[in-house]
Amino acid sequence: SSTVRSITTLPQTINQIKTENKHILGTQDASPVTINGWIKSVQKLKNVAFLNISDGNCAQGVMAVLQPDQVTSDLTTGACVSVKGNLVSSQGKKQGLELQAESVKVTGTVDEYPIQKKFHKQEFLRTLPALRWRTSVNSSTLRYRSFCMAQMTNFFAENDFVQTNPPLLTSSDCEGAGEVFKVAGGGKGDKFFGDKPAYLTVSTQLHLEVLAAAVGRVWTFTPAFRAENSDTNRHLSEFWMAEAEISFIDDLEPLMDLAEGMVKSCLAPLMEEGNKARNDLLDARRSAEQKEELLDRWDMANCDFPRLTYKQAIKILNLQHLKEPFAHRPDYEVGLRSEHEKWLATEYFISPVFVTDYPKEQKPFYMKQSPHDSQTVACFDLLMPHIGEVIGGSVREDNYDTLLKNIETTGMDKSALEWYLELRKQGSTPHGGFGMGFERLISYATGIENIRDVTAFPRWVDNCSC
Ligand code: 4AD
Repeated sequence: SSTVRSITTLPQTINQIKTENKHILGTQDASPVTINGWIKSVQKLKNVAFLNISDGNCAQGVMAVLQPDQVTSDLTTGACVSVKGNLVSSQGKKQGLELQAESVKVTGTVDEYPIQKKFHKQEFLRTLPALRWRTSVNSSTLRYRSFCMAQMTNFFAENDFVQTNPPLLTSSDCEGAGEVFKVAGGGKGDKFFGDKPAYLTVSTQLHLEVLAAAVGRVWTFTPAFRAENSDTNRHLSEFWMAEAEISFIDDLEPLMDLAEGMVKSCLAPLMEEGNKARNDLLDARRSAEQKEELLDRWDMANCDFPRLTYKQAIKILNLQHLKEPFAHRPDYEVGLRSEHEKWLATEYFISPVFVTDYPKEQKPFYMKQSPHDSQTVACFDLLMPHIGEVIGGSVREDNYDTLLKNIETTGMDKSALEWYLELRKQGSTPHGGFGMGFERLISYATGIENIRDVTAFPRWVDNCSC
């Protein structure tokens, strides 16, 4: 738009340079440019040398063609270079733009660079916290995260939501699961916030409820912290959560519509031929199998997400258990295990699926009773193929006495929740909301199995070393 200025004094990205010089393709024209980036690979021949240079800002780099007298021993994979020259249409087999180098400056040499052109396993890359985002696959994840944040921002703005900034330091444990990181004790010598302890937030929901009761529809995108001792591929101690809260709704359908719309704002563009985010993720995958797997995943989410109750889900799972047993028998009382969630979405529905109305014992204190069953609450989980739960949401209990009773029966500290309870006495309204684990969605869309590999500096139990 005319109010957004493009800053032309910055060094241009490879993407900008290529876009600006598209017209050169197939012609004899040349354009003077400077390419800044890291060397992906080097090929030194007798009469010529090729440097594949990438700035990580898009999947494709640029090939720089050097004369033998421009080649020095410090031009090695991983080194950072600034190459001035003429951008021309390549005469080679692969049509594209290439850079005929005129001057080559190495701005940063490398010692023993551990990342080579070959495929590296994520487990190995995880041992290189300062370098692992330089691989094509990993940098494409960073770019896709950025794309999703912009998509969600647009999606919520389009639907009249107010983006808000609830606190990360709190005095309450929103989920009541006791998985909080304490930052101030409220004890002797540790009274930063007075007598009350303070924690890092596990979810901003309670604060969002307050804000939704002021401006109607709110959302936020924040870190959440959980001191869960879960060493799995879908749990982090610090993760990002997109949360929404909406006033004036008393049932799950519009909430699930909203959640589905938000997920699709990130996934649906990947189904469009020519879409930049789609091409970017595909270009970063080398093998046809890897590309196929991504297309399959995106295709699975390209439908109306089915909705069924927890009771129905248990029935379906039990029938399956008779045919082909799970490691754990599906049990109404115990709840869905990860293997059950994954099977329902991946094998049975072959799509994301909403499971609603869980038994109240399995869910937090703030959820409202289902209108048709006193034993269950009006809530949903969105289960995604290969991942399991990605979103949790519910209608909230808006009656003061019932909410107070819930707090008391779950044994929570009522005094820490007075401020929240108060809301039910001051123009209370039916309302509801949800929270989505951002890394789980990214893991689904990128096919990267462990969410430790889709977040820049993952923290999990025993791991917080940089
Ligand atoms: O289901 P959860 O615990 O729900 C809440 O926190 C609600 N208060 C949100 C709300 O209604 N505003 O967490 C929401 C989502 C989960 O579905 C999951 O995707 C993700 O957050 N999540 C985690 N992601 C990574 N690592 C962890 N340890 C996670 N715990 C939850």
